[in-house]
Amino acid sequence: DPVRFISNPSSGKMGFAVATAAENRGAEVVLVAGPTRLFDPANIQTIRVVSAREMAGAVFDHFEAADIIIKTAAVSDYSPPEIADHKIKKGAEEMDIVFQKNIDILRTLGGRKRPDQFLVGFAAETRDLRENACKKLVEKNLDMIVGNLVGNPDSGFSADTNRVTLFYPNREREPLEVMEKTAVANLLLDRILERLS
Ligand code: PMT
Repeated sequence: DPVRFISNPSSGKMGFAVATAAENRGAEVVLVAGPTRLFDPANIQTIRVVSAREMAGAVFDHFEAADIIIKTAAVSDYSPPEIADHKIKKGAEEMDIVFQKNIDILRTLGGRKRPDQFLVGFAAETRDLRENACKKLVEKNLDMIVGNLVGNPDSGFSADTNRVTLFYPNREREPLEVMEKTAVANLLLDRILERLS
């Protein structure tokens, strides 16, 4: 309803760090951002969206022209199909909210990807990081997935630092130490450029 929403604690820090690191290296960057308190980074075309559907539209609009696509966003898998026009009033002891599956933006991109494009996903997991991340890598036809163990204060949602493992289709993997999200972003770009060359 107009005064309440269902979301997650993503701050946008990881995504903005990747966008800024790429811009610093001379890339022309389009940043599609969900709700965050962060300001638009300098020299980056930033498109603000609220819903998964809006994010899908903006990402699809820019996909064809992109060489490298990095999806750090924690997109909701489900959302309520209807938003109440007015505040929902307290009534019965229990209340049900029906959720519908959202479009999986990354999986759609994986199906449309050209051989010259490099597609990177993130996977936020609370357990079985390797198994869950590798499943997404294959199912979404990715060139790399960044497995992100969440649940500790120094990693994942809202933290300034992150602990990630990079996984590749050839089963190679690279676990990284806890480091600033800006450092994760730069290392990620190093690895992508190595693979592209
Ligand atoms: O924003 P921060 O506070 O800095 O936090 C960073 C982060 C924890 C959000 C980030 O590092 C991270 O791990 N992002 C992935 C979050 C996630 O929820 O992943 P997932 O396992 O649900 O999704 C897997 C991949 O599919 C992701 O690349 C996601 O963008 C994509 N996806 C998911 C659902 C959906 N409907 N469409 C998608 O494209």
